[in-house]
Amino acid sequence: MAVSVSHILTLTTITLFLLITNTTSKTPSQDITTLLTKIKPTLQGTTPNQILNSWNITTPICQWQGLKWSISCSPSSLEYNNLSLAFEPSLHLVSIQLPSANLSGQLPPEISQLASLQNLYLSVNGLSGSIPFELGYSSSLKDIDLGHNGLSGSVPGSIWNLCGNEMVGLRLNGNLLSGLVPEPGLHNVSCEKFMYLDLSGNNFSGSFPEFVIGFKGIKEIDLSSNKFFGEIPSGLSGLNLEKLNLSYNNFSGVLPSFGGLKFGVESFEGNDASLCGEPLKACRGGVHGGNGLSSGAIAGIVIGLMSGIVVFASLLIGYSQGKRKKNVDLEDEEFDEGEEDENGGGVGEGKLILFQGGEHLTLEDVLNATGQVMEKTSYGTIYKAKLADGGTIALRLLREGSCKDGGLCMPVIKQLGRIRHESLIPLRAFYQGKRGEKLLIYDYLPNRTLHELLHENQPGKPVLNWARRHKIALAIAKGLAHLHSTIDTPITHGNIRSKNILVDDFFVARLTDFGLYKLMIPAVADEIIASAKADGYKAPELQKMKSCNSRTDVYAFGILLLEILLGKKPGKNGVRDGFVDLPAVVKVAVLEETTMEVFDVEVLKGIRSPMEDGLVHALKLAMGCCAPVASVRPTMEEVVKQLEENRPRNRSALYSPAETRSGMDTPF
Ligand SMILES: *[C@@H]1O[C@H](CO)[C@@H](O)[C@H](O)[C@H]1NC(C)=O
Ligand SMILES: *[C@@H]1O[C@H](CO)[C@@H](O)[C@H](O)[C@H]1NC(C)=O
Ligand SMILES: *[C@@H]1O[C@H](CO)[C@@H](O)[C@H](O)[C@H]1NC(C)=O
Ligand SMILES: *[C@@H]1O[C@H](CO)[C@@H](O)[C@H](O)[C@H]1NC(C)=O
Ligand SMILES: *[C@@H]1O[C@H](CO)[C@@H](O)[C@H](O)[C@H]1NC(C)=O
Ligand SMILES: *[C@@H]1O[C@H](CO)[C@@H](O)[C@H](O)[C@H]1NC(C)=O
Ligand SMILES: *[C@@H]1O[C@H](CO)[C@@H](O)[C@H](O)[C@H]1NC(C)=O
Repeated sequence: MAVSVSHILTLTTITLFLLITNTTSKTPSQDITTLLTKIKPTLQGTTPNQILNSWNITTPICQWQGLKWSISCSPSSLEYNNLSLAFEPSLHLVSIQLPSANLSGQLPPEISQLASLQNLYLSVNGLSGSIPFELGYSSSLKDIDLGHNGLSGSVPGSIWNLCGNEMVGLRLNGNLLSGLVPEPGLHNVSCEKFMYLDLSGNNFSGSFPEFVIGFKGIKEIDLSSNKFFGEIPSGLSGLNLEKLNLSYNNFSGVLPSFGGLKFGVESFEGNDASLCGEPLKACRGGVHGGNGLSSGAIAGIVIGLMSGIVVFASLLIGYSQGKRKKNVDLEDEEFDEGEEDENGGGVGEGKLILFQGGEHLTLEDVLNATGQVMEKTSYGTIYKAKLADGGTIALRLLREGSCKDGGLCMPVIKQLGRIRHESLIPLRAFYQGKRGEKLLIYDYLPNRTLHELLHENQPGKPVLNWARRHKIALAIAKGLAHLHSTIDTPITHGNIRSKNILVDDFFVARLTDFGLYKLMIPAVADEIIASAKADGYKAPELQKMKSCNSRTDVYAFGILLLEILLGKKPGKNGVRDGFVDLPAVVKVAVLEETTMEVFDVEVLKGIRSPMEDGLVHALKLAMGCCAPVASVRPTMEEVVKQLEENRPRNRSALYSPAETRSGMDTPF
């Protein structure tokens, strides 16, 4: 008996000794301690939670679920399995992302002690209790989503302190919050980076939170399904809002004028019966007379648009039928066919379908627009078109006969019209004329294509250093990943190329042309393959456009990424039937051990170590995307992840002021 006790004691001593030597004089870093002792137990509530169980000191922190750290944690990195990282004092938590994680506790006030925490995403859980005022004293927090929980009480006014952290969003929808929306402690807080406010589906009361009008960058306001009352301030119409929902409250009085039909009835329904003004009932004797155009004029305008020259619609109105033919530029044979049988006013009004963000467009606007050809492709022409009210849109006219007929087109158009992502240029409206002409209406962006930025060496162009190229590549990858996986019906882009990417002055990149092949008859769609082949973006296995898929997109993205890294134009190169096979160029360089020389000199500018800066990793990733065997290519989601985890170190290179190419004749 005594023996066994002493035996046990010895064992315990040894175990303790081992534990102590293992962690000699080390305690976990502060964020880790806060997470484990305060945040985990409070969020978890009374029922153990599987996801939160992964937050334990016997698991490397990279494997704790729902967290992002100040280091990169890719499964292939050394960090991934490093148990001592938890004791690294310089390590900080950047993001808590636990949507739908079955959390049933409360919000721990200690969240505010996580000094580097920027994002708190805890939507769709069972959290209860109130929002602690301490949250407003976080030193880095800037994006909060607590939607669809059971939070109650009022919102602490301290929340607006976060404007000082450049707060971007506050989403508290679908809780049991009540009381007035608190005003910022300081007057005239402009909260410049703030974009999203969602308070819908709570029990907030009081008048419209007017201070929000001072947040000039705000894009989305949803106050629907609460108990707000009183008038809607007219200042609201001065904001550049993309979404507004004030439905199901008790607002009264006159609606501000938002211009056209920017917001529909669904944004204002279910309020006090006295609420009036467009798009609701007119306020006592409203004045709105339609001044419809004759269908003859519309025909003239549509043809004018087609003619590929700048056409002033007003001049066309009243043109006699006999003269109209002269407005058709004869170079433009593709639009001539089928127009001979036109019979005066037979065109009729056609049909305009509006999508989110295009609500303000009217048929009259679109057809009255004056257009200018920007680009022609095998299947249509893109116009920059000015609206009568001064706005500009991009119109893509699909060549007659290139499209499947209306019935087959419509579901695709509707699907394309629903796609919204910051890296994808949104389809705002669609027009189908009586004669079958089809116009796709997009936002017009006065930006350069990536193709121009990479390959046209005009003075005044910005230097494309690695930080900027990485930003562009990552944005495109995210846009594609969105198309491939995160929307209800996945879509293949089908035509990825540097000419279909627009880049703005801040190197924000956006993809256009996605999914258009789905509208086309097979013969026309296959022309896309022919041109992708000529330009080097075609996946080897792709023979018919109808069999294109996310893996063929990944291939094209791989070529694009090589194009970005090498600064070389893929495909036929004009010079003596030359064909530049970018993956082959890289393979040769690797074999000859001249890998570092394949990169564009501009990319290497300011780079300390191509290895550390993720450059070599990006090259490998691009080669993986271009694998001849489709099944071994990564998915776009994997690509996004890899690019995010291998960022250039020198982030400030993104923002170095207006450095232009004219000033970089001397290599570094
Ligand atoms: C620690 O986390 C790992 C990984 O999630 C899990 O398998 C293990 O059960 C956890 N241990 C404890 C004590 O919760
Ligand atoms: C693990 O992380 C610690 C702290 O950052 C570091 O000193 C150590 O070298 C790492 N170990 C490995 C194998 O990467
Ligand atoms: C969520 O938590 C409840 C207990 O609160 C548990 O019964 C259930 O299995 C959990 N669901 C998941 C998906 O973990
Ligand atoms: C707030 O701004 C308004 C006008 O924008 C100004 O009249 C007022 O004095 C400002 N108040 C403070 C406290 O700065
Ligand atoms: C909503 O707020 C009102 C006071 O504004 C209160 O009387 C009512 O009980 C609240 N309802 C719920 C469901 O919390
Ligand atoms: C809505 O507001 C009106 C005054 O504008 C008031 O008479 C009415 O009682 C309110 N309705 C509700 C349900 O609060
Ligand atoms: C506004 O919210 C209500 C319910 O909260 C919803 O039915 C309606 O569709 C929303 N309108 C818009 C334009 O999002």
